[in-house]
Amino acid sequence: MSEAITTQPPSHRVLPHELPASLRDAGLTNWIREPLDDAVDRRRRIIMPPAAAAMGTPASAYQGALLAEARHPDTLFMMGDNPALPTMPERPVLKDFFLLRFSPIARTHLLQSARVARENGLDEKVIMACLVHDIAIAGLLSANHGYWGAQMLGPYVDEEVAWAIEKHEALRYFPDESVGYTYPEAYIDYFGPEYTPPEYLRREHEAARRHRWYMTSRLITMNDIYSFDPNVVVNFDEFEDVVGRNFRQPSEGLGFDGSPVAHMWRTMIWPNNFL
Ligand SMILES: [Fe+2]
Ligand SMILES: [Fe+2]
Repeated sequence: MSEAITTQPPSHRVLPHELPASLRDAGLTNWIREPLDDAVDRRRRIIMPPAAAAMGTPASAYQGALLAEARHPDTLFMMGDNPALPTMPERPVLKDFFLLRFSPIARTHLLQSARVARENGLDEKVIMACLVHDIAIAGLLSANHGYWGAQMLGPYVDEEVAWAIEKHEALRYFPDESVGYTYPEAYIDYFGPEYTPPEYLRREHEAARRHRWYMTSRLITMNDIYSFDPNVVVNFDEFEDVVGRNFRQPSEGLGFDGSPVAHMWRTMIWPNNFL
């Protein structure tokens, strides 16, 4: 597959429509896809915001309105391929998720971190871990991303890699002067100077420090690049060899191998399904 597939969605041209003012005012136009010139059947598709994205936001109050909107004869809930997203191959591999699903910022962050790890002469396991350490943020969920990421990668990477990805969630917040790791400047911007991580992460950090794989996880935090510059170009193919040796690609394709985490990969293939 060529890098050229990283094109934008086919079209952003929205045709005129009669969305009730209440929904428009609530900003719910974001969740309703009007029939575009690439639509198959000219019907509108409603994307119901997932609970994890809507809770605590005005969108959560409008589930009923979206359900009512879906009863219009020309309107359906989104199921299957969303034409706004590039179509995934039948048997997707890791690279397909990078190129066809992850945003340029997320993709670049991961590729840059892996490149820095390689430039620092680190072990392949660490390069692999850096390449996918924030895969959950890139494609699934940000909160608890280390845990989600470790879980979805578990069947396909070395146990040490999955462990390191899980623990980087906690280790990021805690300096380790012995290796020159300091609290990220970016977090002072993101969370404010007064932010302190919750108790459970403190305990996770303490336990991880005593673990034999501590440095693998610590190295993820040390190669985590916070300069989210989408203009930096790193080609996934730079890591094809590392991935080939360190990621067990299932022959049925990610999402279809019947593994206990296949549903997580399917959620990234069809992120807007109503159910
Ligand atoms: Fe992270
Ligand atoms: Fe990161």
